Amino acid sequence: MNNHSSPSENIFLRRPLGKTEIEVSPVAMGCWPIAGMTSLGVNDADSLATLHAAIDDGVNFFDNAYGYGANGESERLLGRALKDRDASQRQSLVIASKAGMHWEANGERKFDASPQRIVSQCEESLRRMGVDRIDVYYLHAFDPAVPLEVSACAFAKLLEQGKVGCVGVSNLTIAQMETFTTACPISVVQPPFNMLQQQIQGDLIPWCQARDIAVVSYWPLMKGLLAGGIRRGHVFEKNDKRLTYDVFQGSAFERAQLLLDFLDPIATKYGVTVAEVVVNWTFNQPGITACLCGAKRDWQIQQSAAAMELEISQDDLMSLDQKLFELEDLD
Ligand SMILES: NC(=O)c1ccc[n+]([C@@H]2O[C@H](COP(=O)([O-])OP(=O)(O)OC[C@H]3O[C@@H](n4cnc5c(N)ncnc54)[C@H](OP(=O)(O)O)[C@@H]3O)[C@@H](O)[C@H]2O)c1
Repeated sequence: MNNHSSPSENIFLRRPLGKTEIEVSPVAMGCWPIAGMTSLGVNDADSLATLHAAIDDGVNFFDNAYGYGANGESERLLGRALKDRDASQRQSLVIASKAGMHWEANGERKFDASPQRIVSQCEESLRRMGVDRIDVYYLHAFDPAVPLEVSACAFAKLLEQGKVGCVGVSNLTIAQMETFTTACPISVVQPPFNMLQQQIQGDLIPWCQARDIAVVSYWPLMKGLLAGGIRRGHVFEKNDKRLTYDVFQGSAFERAQLLLDFLDPIATKYGVTVAEVVVNWTFNQPGITACLCGAKRDWQIQQSAAAMELEISQDDLMSLDQKLFELEDLD
């Protein structure tokens, strides 16, 4: 039974996804945390509440992957949430997934982008999510054992068969994307990008802009660091995998803290959270179509969704950009 309110469909700006006819909210929900593989304290009830909160708050774009969970936990949860919605609500949503990465029985992550694997993963993802078509289907990452053109041909075939609406790639270099496009058109690219990691501004974004390819960026909140709650002296739980990332260590962590110190009064001035300022800044950067905000609790995605309503003054944006420029030069 559908007990959910109608999504606030018209309130927020939708953006064209590159050359496709798909329109997406600039805040998308990243479904990695609800897989429960690295995020702590994940449970189905909260994950489903998070997915529904996203829809209710105007997010229409959901980012999933075959490998989000050892047994497709994130895709299955998304499928359950979709089932709870009526057909018209489901139709307004844009579902993305990825092929080419899975988990072996021994817990090892494996990149396999062979055509057989891509096709079988697509079939299984369709079943898990209970959809006839995956709107955006990405190659998750390069598999050195398979020539890219060969992986790309499998994607081209899925596109031709209508099993996927358009094709994207993630974690590829520009040279690799050039190779991929010889066998299959790329509509969307999914790279990492946030206030502390802006490398793609130099090359990948101009490459995509020149081709009208959408850029859907991941890690806007740098796995929670830029949400504002992880401050100097934070005691991480001992199984918190975030500690394995460089940005949570030494001078990189201190640089993030200096940024958070700067963001605190801006958030206070607008009466919002630091996460909202960060997400708003991210999807408003040149060439960014949408940013993938991971969440495992409803309040988290509600804050990210609220960033779609925020308007930051030009003066504040300029002083923020100046701060980011200064922080780049710190050791
Ligand atoms: N293509 C790829 O290879 C690739 C790689 C990485 C990610 N992605 C995609 O990008 C999405 C985003 O990446 P991500 O989920 O790893 O990281 P993220 O969006 O940068 O951070 C999400 C984490 O931040 C914390 N958080 C979120 N909102 C918050 C708030 N308002 N206040 C405080 N904390 C908050 C939560 O962590 P805690 O509650 O645990 O603190 C949440 O799990 C993924 O879900 C996935 O869809 C793709």
